[in-house]
Amino acid sequence: MRRLNVAVLANLKRNAPTREDMPEDVWDDLDSDVTVNAIVAALESAGHRAAFLEGDLSLVEELPRLRPDICFNISEGHWGDSRESHVPAILEMLRIPYTGSGVLTLALTLDKAMTKRVLSFHGLPTPAFQVFERADEPLDSDLRFPLFVKPIREGTGMGVSGESIVRSKPALRAQLAEQLARYRQPILVERFIRGREVTVGLIGNLIGPVAWRVPRDDRAERVFAGLRFLPPLEVDFAAYPESEGGVYTNRMKTDWAHDFHYLCPAPAEPSQLEELNWLAAAVFRVTGCADVARVDFRLDADDGNKPYILEVNPLPGLYPGLSDLVLEADAAGMRYNDLINAILEVARVRVGLNDS
Ligand SMILES: Nc1ncnc2c1ncn2[C@@H]1O[C@H](COP(=O)(O)OP(=O)(O)OP(=O)(O)O)[C@@H](O)[C@H]1O
Ligand SMILES: [Mg+2]
Repeated sequence: MRRLNVAVLANLKRNAPTREDMPEDVWDDLDSDVTVNAIVAALESAGHRAAFLEGDLSLVEELPRLRPDICFNISEGHWGDSRESHVPAILEMLRIPYTGSGVLTLALTLDKAMTKRVLSFHGLPTPAFQVFERADEPLDSDLRFPLFVKPIREGTGMGVSGESIVRSKPALRAQLAEQLARYRQPILVERFIRGREVTVGLIGNLIGPVAWRVPRDDRAERVFAGLRFLPPLEVDFAAYPESEGGVYTNRMKTDWAHDFHYLCPAPAEPSQLEELNWLAAAVFRVTGCADVARVDFRLDADDGNKPYILEVNPLPGLYPGLSDLVLEADAAGMRYNDLINAILEVARVRVGLNDS
């Protein structure tokens, strides 16, 4: 196997710009030295050369100096409505290949409502929703309480707490006012799906002529070729205080991340597992993901555990020993180094970096 020169691109929390009026959780999405060092070490363990670069405008000068064969990109970006797509856009302008999804997919999936419109177009199940830009906009008559309120383009459960579940119009208005003021972006209101929560990780790329549409046929066209499904991870809500409301909150993802309670593989009948995998593959396909993603589901306890897609994460967290995808890989017998090198490998094949 050819030894590659890999630039690991990420936005470190400690390098993040600050501004006075920012909410304190604003950089919860960004990465730590632990993650970046672990990725560098994983790539080196496979014989590659790897160096970290901060994923910002300095890349325009740093990358031509380093001349990597490929970038391992996990940059979340800092500013703007499409921040996750900024580094890939720079890389495309510099004509340097990179791991993971491209500009359009990262911009699309950061916006949960846009993503849900694409999913709905393809008939994929996602909770009914409405986007609010003001707290006093009329509520659609087909949305019934309880509802769930969250920012339209944040991750790591930002804005998500027990209070996000609202059971009345006054509670909805209060949550909207609070989140609009705090996050300064449209707020997504969805039907609250009561039930279990599972997330499915995928590595690879779909091969075959149907890669951009959802198969209509029930069986014959359920093409999984090229995708590796990791065992689903279920959040064990029973192990958390009632204050969290049975949802995967910001507090659980940050303050309590080192004491995460989960089941992996999540208990599931083979037919249910197949359904989750098929839905995850369909989401991967219609949102144009590449190499790796994690699709989050809720199983509706009031409707026979029917799966609903909450969102797709094309830049899933890679914190060693803690992030969902890492725990799923572990349950599949892939150690951290295997996971990182598997992502690099599928990217290498996709972009046609030859192996000689
Ligand atoms: N419609 C809903 N019904 C029930 N729970 C929900 C709903 N939407 C979100 N949640 C809960 O809030 C959590 C966070 O929501 P979501 O996955 O959309 O946000 P996120 O912050 O982007 O997550 P991530 O850390 O995966 O990027 C979910 O894991 C789930 O527990
Ligand atoms: Mg999520």
